[in-house]
Parts: sequence; C-alpha cells; structure tokens
Amino acid sequence: MSSFETKVKEALANPLNQGELADADAVGTVGSPECGDMLRMWLKFTEKDGKRVIDRASFQAFGCQTAIAVASMATELLRGKTADEAKILTAQELTGDLGPLPPMKIHCGQLVEGALRNALDNDAPAAAPTTGNMSPTL
Ligand code: FES
Ligand code: FES
Repeated sequence: MSSFETKVKEALANPLNQGELADADAVGTVGSPECGDMLRMWLKFTEKDGKRVIDRASFQAFGCQTAIAVASMATELLRGKTADEAKILTAQELTGDLGPLPPMKIHCGQLVEGALRNALDNDAPAAAPTTGNMSPTL
C-alpha cells in the first residue's frame, strides 16, 4: 500500500469534524461530475484580533473515502483562517499531511475545495445565517 493510502486509512479510522454544524454561518455543497460523489461543508466564523476568521468547519461526504480523509484534514487546517485566506487554498493544500494526492485522486480533493468555495460564496457576514436547503436544526 502506498503511503498516501496508509495515511487515508489512518484518517478514516478517526475522521474529525464530521456532521452538520447546527449554528453554521455558511454551508456549501458540491457534487463531482467525475464519480457522482457529493460533499457538504459547514463554516462557523468568529471574531479574533479584529479579524473575522473560521472558528469551526465540518463536513459530510457521500461516497468517497479519499474525500472524507481530505475533508477531515481540511476542516482542521481551516481553523483561524479568514475567508480570503481560505478562498485561495487549493485541493493539494487542503490535503495537508495526507498529500500529495495521486493523479487518480485529485478530483476527490477538488470536491473538498469546491464545497469550501461554495460555502464561502454563500457566506454573507452581515446577513442571517445561511442554511442552504437543509431543514433548520436546533
Ligand atoms: Fe467516488 Fe471512487 S468513485 S469513491
Ligand atoms: Fe470521486 Fe473520490 S473517487 S470524490
């Protein structure tokens, strides 16, 4: 098994930040045309040193194990980033210590990047929290 596969396996044994963030400020969903898998990401912002930064991020992945492992890593490394800093992160950067993604798995990382971008696009700092088309959670 390649070291990438080993790291994915390790990440899957204890995936972090899985599930809906009930008090999220933004949610983004994206599907992969390549494989039909889907990923949703929630973001919660906070104020830190006069800057609005990501306090917590969570995800739900439907289908792909690599996407779960990358999203688990990404939701950790997003903490403390501003929306502008998060917006420019590439799939390979979001993969963190798991990477680099092998060519066959690049679209799995792009699924995470797409969900993040979509959530950031849906983020409206001054407006009411966005819950997308999900039913409200208490
Ligand atoms: Fe999605 Fe591989 S096709 S898991
Ligand atoms: Fe399609 Fe991973 S195999 S997202």
